[in-house]
Amino acid sequence: MTLEALTVELDVLQIEAEKAFAGAADADALELARVEYLGAKSGRLRSAQKGLGAVQGPDKPAAGKRFNAAKQAVEAAFTAAQARIASLTAARPAGPMFDRTLPGIRPRVGHLHPLTQTIEELKDIMGRLGFTVASGPEIEDEWHNFEALNIPAAHPARDPLENFYLTTARHVGESLRDSQRGSESPDRGKPLLLRSQTSTVQIRVMETQQPPVRIISLGRVYRPDTADATHYPMFHQIEGLLVDRQVTMADLKSVLRLFASSFLGGDVHIRFRPSFFPFTEPSVEVDMSWHDTKTGAGRWIEMGGAGMVDPNVLRAVGYDPEVFSGFAFGLGVERVCARRHNVGDIREFYRNDVRFLEQF
Ligand code: DAH
Repeated sequence: MTLEALTVELDVLQIEAEKAFAGAADADALELARVEYLGAKSGRLRSAQKGLGAVQGPDKPAAGKRFNAAKQAVEAAFTAAQARIASLTAARPAGPMFDRTLPGIRPRVGHLHPLTQTIEELKDIMGRLGFTVASGPEIEDEWHNFEALNIPAAHPARDPLENFYLTTARHVGESLRDSQRGSESPDRGKPLLLRSQTSTVQIRVMETQQPPVRIISLGRVYRPDTADATHYPMFHQIEGLLVDRQVTMADLKSVLRLFASSFLGGDVHIRFRPSFFPFTEPSVEVDMSWHDTKTGAGRWIEMGGAGMVDPNVLRAVGYDPEVFSGFAFGLGVERVCARRHNVGDIREFYRNDVRFLEQF
């Protein structure tokens, strides 16, 4: 082996080794390159060292020098590659690679119950028509649930089978009231019940304020009905009351029509059928005809009751029926909501099946 041949071999080896180390993408590739060039038994540097022994005479020191230079360069290239790959590995977090181009997993977000949504929307619509929201207790006395509403003692609507009368609550309520007053209340012994209608709130509002009155009340009412597609022992009503001078049935009709068109959308027609309620005279049953944009069908659906506030009711709260008149209406919230969303069975609203609720 001549010095010249050895020099050429080392030059090539050094260039190739530097290229291999710099190009190693990970620790495995680097290790393969290390074995090829720096392997102790059959690495290419090791073979070149064997060739070194064959260089004789005055060239020997120069050959040794050249070999050492090549060895140092190759080793330096390896160390640099090692450091580069170590820093790559350290920068990557442990665990599986996070691929940020994958579509995300959407967290499941809940929302308001369809009935709550309906209630909020009804409040909104009536608010724009100038009605403020009033509320009353769900546990009522007979005065607010019946008597002041012109429902006398013998009226079938007061039958214990038609109402949830409360024995326990009566005693607790009475003791509480008595202890607050410091004496026995005149209401003592009078029954309490879960209100059967939101009309109670009409009385509570009129008892505490003078006309003009323009309120709505939304809330739960209770009746011992067997649950079916259109009944439930607890449901919601929206009650409206407007008392002022010279209020007429025409006002009632236009308010109900605006209300229904805003909620159901499109052209809603209102139809009044003569009816009877103790607290209104005349009384009507309110039907709405709603042209369903999906099916194209239009039919009359009963939505609730309404009428002109009975003079007896105005008198019961101390209003002069000669001066003031008013209209009232009461509609079932479940019914309007079911109508709007084409739900065939109001029991769905209470099953709490998320597959149903998710749709709203
Ligand atoms: N309270 C009646 C019911 O529960 C509904 C009703 C009818 C309310 C006529 C009214 C009304 O305010 O004027 O069946």
